[in-house]
Amino acid sequence: MILATLLLSFQLLGRAEAFVQRSWDESYALANAKIAQMTVDEKVGILTGVGQFNSRCVGDTHPVDRLGIPSICFQDGPAGLRLVKGVTGFPSGINTASTFSRRLMRARGVALGEESRGKGVNVFLGPAMDIMRNPKAGRGWESFGPDPFLTGEGSYETIIGVQSTGVQACAKHFVANNQEHWRYGVTSNLDERTMWEVYGWPFLRSIDADVTSVMCAYNRVNGTSSCGNSDLLGPKGFLRENGFKGFVVSDWGATHDAAKDVANAGLEMEQPGDWIVIGGGDFNNLITGLKPAVKSGAVTTDRLNEMVGRVLAAFYHLGQDSGFPAVNFDAQHSDGSGSKNLHVSVRSDAHTALVREIASASAVLLKNNRTTFLPAAGAKETIRGLPITKSRIRTMAIIGQDAKMPNLSCNDLNECNDGTMSVGWGSGSNSLEFVVPPVDALMSENAGAATLATSLSNDLNAGANAARDKDVAFVFANAMSGELGFYSVVVGNMGDRNDLDLWFKGGSLIERVAAVCNNTIVVIHSVGPVVMPWSSHPNITAIVYAGAPGEMTGPSLVDVLYGRYNPRGRLPFSIADKEADFGTSIVYNSLSGFPEINYTEKLLLDYRYMDANGITPRFEFGFGLSYTTFAYSGPLSIASGASGTRAITFTVTNSGEVPGTEIAQLYLAFPAGAGEPQRVLRGFEEVPLGVGESRSVTIALGQRDMSIWDVVRHAWVVPPGTFTVTVGASINDVRLTGTF
Ligand SMILES: *[C@@H]1O[C@H](CO)[C@@H](O)[C@H](O)[C@H]1NC(C)=O
Ligand SMILES: *[C@@H]1O[C@H](CO)[C@@H](O)[C@H](O)[C@H]1NC(C)=O
Ligand SMILES: *[C@@H]1O[C@H](CO)[C@@H](O)[C@H](O)[C@H]1NC(C)=O
Ligand SMILES: *[C@@H]1O[C@H](CO)[C@@H](O)[C@H](O)[C@H]1NC(C)=O
Ligand SMILES: *[C@@H]1O[C@H](CO)[C@@H](O)[C@H](O)[C@H]1NC(C)=O
Ligand SMILES: *[C@@H]1O[C@H](CO)[C@@H](O)[C@H](O)[C@H]1NC(C)=O
Repeated sequence: MILATLLLSFQLLGRAEAFVQRSWDESYALANAKIAQMTVDEKVGILTGVGQFNSRCVGDTHPVDRLGIPSICFQDGPAGLRLVKGVTGFPSGINTASTFSRRLMRARGVALGEESRGKGVNVFLGPAMDIMRNPKAGRGWESFGPDPFLTGEGSYETIIGVQSTGVQACAKHFVANNQEHWRYGVTSNLDERTMWEVYGWPFLRSIDADVTSVMCAYNRVNGTSSCGNSDLLGPKGFLRENGFKGFVVSDWGATHDAAKDVANAGLEMEQPGDWIVIGGGDFNNLITGLKPAVKSGAVTTDRLNEMVGRVLAAFYHLGQDSGFPAVNFDAQHSDGSGSKNLHVSVRSDAHTALVREIASASAVLLKNNRTTFLPAAGAKETIRGLPITKSRIRTMAIIGQDAKMPNLSCNDLNECNDGTMSVGWGSGSNSLEFVVPPVDALMSENAGAATLATSLSNDLNAGANAARDKDVAFVFANAMSGELGFYSVVVGNMGDRNDLDLWFKGGSLIERVAAVCNNTIVVIHSVGPVVMPWSSHPNITAIVYAGAPGEMTGPSLVDVLYGRYNPRGRLPFSIADKEADFGTSIVYNSLSGFPEINYTEKLLLDYRYMDANGITPRFEFGFGLSYTTFAYSGPLSIASGASGTRAITFTVTNSGEVPGTEIAQLYLAFPAGAGEPQRVLRGFEEVPLGVGESRSVTIALGQRDMSIWDVVRHAWVVPPGTFTVTVGASINDVRLTGTF
């Protein structure tokens, strides 16, 4: 008891001892005082990684011991720390987007920050903020989907959360980094309005969140390398014009030009510091590197000092000079071996519970054809569909490779798909140390109540045999994607997915099971939209789209299936029947080397393209069912605030039989002639409600939310005319409409 109390107070002390955030002015003053005492070598050292095989973290800077400046540690990545033991495997960005919950977005950021800090990581390499321009884009799952507003909010909350722990966030990848094929040199050609309203928008939100670092991308933009692009990084470029005060770091090996060119264009730091085949090694080059460029005057001392100042100011801004834990792991030994791995666990019950909650909150119930029985006394029981009533199930089958434990020691990039898919592959994966697969969680929930048959492969005959005439068959299937890395191929996919099909004939498996079991419950683990031609099969009573939910995948799903957690996740993208419905493509082949990709669809991604082309998707953006029902009541009250802002108020009621959370969504239609998509997401709110409870909800519209980027005035402009606001449960499930 005394011991427990002591531990608790240490924990409280640890939190209380946190850090003191300083103003940027004060931080720059401290930085400049150090810079005044530094040699050129020391300055260059702070701006250059120590090399891919020398760093203890995934990237380290050179310390300046005599001035008390430590090595700054950078570590992957957006879904939890990678190459490190004793950490939590968090839900992916795309699942976090599915929650449509600022509370959970921020809580995940805080937890990621706490684990980074506990490991001594100064800069957490996330959030990933790349727009899912095409649904097959390999790294789409790391970020928050195709909608700029939702991506912006996910990014903002993550950064606020991470930086609240004194850890720096790194907004990435700047910018228009939207496919894996050819990524080391592809150019994304996009017009100014598309830049501001779509791909740049989340970066504006990251600056709103006071992010201390931004990572420039591998690709070129308009023909110029992102990391050497003064339109993006320079003093008059996108970031600085919008008030960014921190530093820009290259993606690992994303520097392709001489040091003087990238430094003068606006890059501050190169990682990992040396040449890594795909690029890099610019700053430390003996002839064309940063030091010779400073000696020759090609890079001025003022610019050099500015570069160092930005790196150090970010460090002082978050108080990392005092009380920040030293690095206690060694990314060179990801198995935990070696004398530099000090075996510090930063896992906690609170983080595990949060991961489970986010995973449940991100599970999207796409279909539920429930048949019930009302006993003389007590609550409704489910005969078919969800939630499962345990006493009604005598025989059960669990089918599909995706239900079982994956190989946890696949490789450091999780380039495997041999069990359940809880996170994609690449530097955005996490350590995969403690996955609880669906089959284990279902078996422990069932605890012998029903007779169980399993077929934990995608063998079609074995799956059908296990499912035949069972009271319920759970069938699992997945689709995965990841980072190109060093041209890695996983089951024939080189980063980007080859198609929108489920892997390993998952669709056929589902159809074979549905043909023999009239209570087939489908669970999809996928990094993005998949085609679901079978979704209306009458024997498929329920479909749960569970995304890439992180290490508590099994328990979080069972909570939903058995009704302990009322589903409330919503699709952060549309699910359509073919890729052409999305209006963009991945460029796989290019005879002339690195291709040019023209973003001719401009603002029209996903639902915006479908609206413009009269396409009704199978499941629309923002869609997701609940075990209860919600009623909206108006009229919409639209109040004007300071400088033209608006506050939209309405009431939501839980009109069903169990407590639940509604995700109220606001879509805005701009005045005709403004050149905007038919409607765009501009607000959302999670509304938890007990049975019969009502709540008034207010969603604010800021000025930027009602503006277009005017390419003549180069400014945000609220277009004249009538705006239409719709509020509802998805983009197509409109409940209330108003105008202003
Ligand atoms: C790319 O070039 C187009 C056409 O010249 C221009 O409108 C746009 O602003 C440029 N994009 C960026 C991100 O600088
Ligand atoms: C897991 O993957 C590793 C690395 O590919 C391999 O050596 C090992 O045999 C695999 N384990 C199992 C159980 O398949
Ligand atoms: C479902 O199948 C079971 C057994 O195969 C059968 O008893 C039941 O009547 C069927 N229910 C429906 C609605 O088809
Ligand atoms: C639904 O399942 C039953 C077995 O329960 C099967 O007899 C029937 O053919 C199936 N229906 C379809 C459309 O596959
Ligand atoms: C729902 O299930 C019933 C049988 O319980 C079936 O008749 C009906 O076709 C199903 N509806 C859908 C939309 O699948
Ligand atoms: C993009 O436009 C350029 C210039 O018009 C053209 O050469 C290139 O082929 C286009 N790219 C693609 C993938 O169509």
